Amino acid sequence: MSRVCVGTVDGWNEREQREVEVDGQSVVVMRYEGEFYALRNLCTHKDVPLLGGEVSDGKITCTKHGGKFELATGKAKALPAVKPVRIFHTEVDGGQVFVAELD
Ligand code: FES
Repeated sequence: MSRVCVGTVDGWNEREQREVEVDGQSVVVMRYEGEFYALRNLCTHKDVPLLGGEVSDGKITCTKHGGKFELATGKAKALPAVKPVRIFHTEVDGGQVFVAELD
């Protein structure tokens, strides 16, 4: 399993989002309330990137139709999204942020 570095913890602002590729998949990584979350960068409603969607109340909102996904679980929380989006593992190690596929 490969893990990908997405910068230093100090270099991340609250609610900042970055796109990274993990094992050939585009992943959106964000910092929210000090924690790091990573989801597949693809809405499960119509294959639109989630990058740039508003993040609030622990969820990211798809810019296309307003579907919402819970950052911690990937669960769909607002229509028209109904299927969960895949989530990735994040960890902080030596002051750096890493993302990897879940086991
Ligand atoms: S494409 Fe994301 S909610 Fe429709």
